Amino acid sequence: MCGIIGYLGHKEAYPLLLAGLQQLEYRGYDSAGICTSSDNTLHVHKLQGRVQNLTAMSLPGTRGIGHTRWSTHGRPSDRNAHPFADGKNQFSVVHNGIIENYLELKEELRKEGVQFSSDTDSEVIVHLIAQNYQGDLRQAVLDTIKRLQGAYAFCVLKNDREEIIGVRNGSPLVVGIGVQENFLASDVSAVIEHTRNVIYLNDFECARITREGVDIRTFQGEPCPFNVKEVNWNLEQAQKQGYKHFMLKEIYEQPQVVEDSLRQSLSLKTKFSRLIIVACGTAFYAGLVGKYLIETVAKIPVTVEIASEFRYKEPLFSAQELVLAISQSGETADTLAAVRLAKQQGIGTLGLINVVDSTIAREVDQVIYTRAGPEIGVASTKAFTAQLLTLYQLAFYLAGKDFKPLHLADQLRAVLSLNDQIKDLAQKYFHYQNFLYIGRNSQYPLALEGALKLKEISYIHAEAYPAGELKHGPLALVSEETPTVALCLQDSVYQKTFSNIQEIKARGGKVIAIATEEDEKIRSISDDVIYLPKVEELFLPLLAVIPLQLFAYHIADIKECDVDKPRNLAKSVTVE
Ligand code: F6R
Repeated sequence: MCGIIGYLGHKEAYPLLLAGLQQLEYRGYDSAGICTSSDNTLHVHKLQGRVQNLTAMSLPGTRGIGHTRWSTHGRPSDRNAHPFADGKNQFSVVHNGIIENYLELKEELRKEGVQFSSDTDSEVIVHLIAQNYQGDLRQAVLDTIKRLQGAYAFCVLKNDREEIIGVRNGSPLVVGIGVQENFLASDVSAVIEHTRNVIYLNDFECARITREGVDIRTFQGEPCPFNVKEVNWNLEQAQKQGYKHFMLKEIYEQPQVVEDSLRQSLSLKTKFSRLIIVACGTAFYAGLVGKYLIETVAKIPVTVEIASEFRYKEPLFSAQELVLAISQSGETADTLAAVRLAKQQGIGTLGLINVVDSTIAREVDQVIYTRAGPEIGVASTKAFTAQLLTLYQLAFYLAGKDFKPLHLADQLRAVLSLNDQIKDLAQKYFHYQNFLYIGRNSQYPLALEGALKLKEISYIHAEAYPAGELKHGPLALVSEETPTVALCLQDSVYQKTFSNIQEIKARGGKVIAIATEEDEKIRSISDDVIYLPKVEELFLPLLAVIPLQLFAYHIADIKECDVDKPRNLAKSVTVE
């Protein structure tokens, strides 16, 4: 996720902005830049790569803005790094978020003679502000906002003005209050070294900071009351935004991931009659849900292959097939090898990737980026949800249908509100050594994902099975000592899974059921029930994954495991 810092005060801005950017590095980024202002002139230094690269020089001035960029539109490069300036180098902008209508705005600005220096969506903002400026910077910003669609936070500096303007609409922005100096930042980690007094801007608010003070307005220009809060966090807590672990923070970011994902539209260059999904781990399980979605909605046959197996097969490809690689990091060696194998055979490749410009993203014929933002916890959570969202979009796109689900993000929020109940369950079950996870249909890949989450972060042995497989072997494992997490949400095979739960109970097994609200029947045959809101069958996987993530998280936390960095595992598996 991109990071923003702005400073205006009595100190040299450049070293201070640099230090702020270093505190934002944890968010993940691929380029960084700073703009300062002195003697009515803007000075810019921006580079692809680490913030450290910016330390080789300094820029003069006691005010400035800085940015760490996590690419979404336009590959990581010096020219796509922020800040951006207008043609006369009078205005400078750093931006987080997405400007959805940037292509349309860019076209319009081009016709008026504006020249662009990057491939980003962000650059339109600075040109619009330059056009709208009539002596009042805030007014120019407020006029510009009227033209922007999307979610964003941005900061604006003008060469000859002792002020910085920051706005928030869907992406966080805070104001840090100092003595004869003030700050703007995308999160408090960037300013915590200088001040603990902050104002959290609300959506649709615009802050103007000067050396002496802060003034906050609505997007209509009306004055806004604000509260200054004292932050008691240390830097590490601030980076986790108060959550105990990055994994928990990332679980809670999932409604936002849904909203961000739904903002992107999708289109494919190739036609195909069969899809082969290749992936590893959690991304493979997302692929299994994808098979269910694409076959159900678009009626296109899909096979899903574990990339480490697929790469050593001699696959019988036929024309009209497409290989879809799913990967958060875009660097997984086995998934990359599977892509290369397909390419060698002349088969089209598509990537569903989270990290922009990663190796797989560059090697596939076409890439669709997932909108999870950087995932720091080793165990994948929000990237899985972003992968599912994109697979829904793909399924609907292939079927020639619109994908506009209502209230999905709010339904995820409702599931997150079960956190305390799930924490209590974790307390009740953490001492077991073995777990079974079962589900059918689209809930089977969720059972696999739930078991994987538990294994990797709590080191408890967990096995997942399609519920119908129980009596072909795993039923022998059922005992008082091996609880089963049963995904039994109301869908077309509900009754079948219900019967499987009865079989487990009849053999003395404990059952934690994940069920649909108002299902009283299931309570009578389960030891514990987690109720999820009623949704269309197609959307069950999106909701059901959250209690599984939270259950694994709390068990691992109770066991005092290193949740964000489980033993023996790496975030990016670049070797076989
Ligand atoms: C599990 C997990 C891994 C990854 C797998 C693939 O929580 O994170 O199983 O899903 O290593 O990684 P990517 O998606 O980067 O290809």
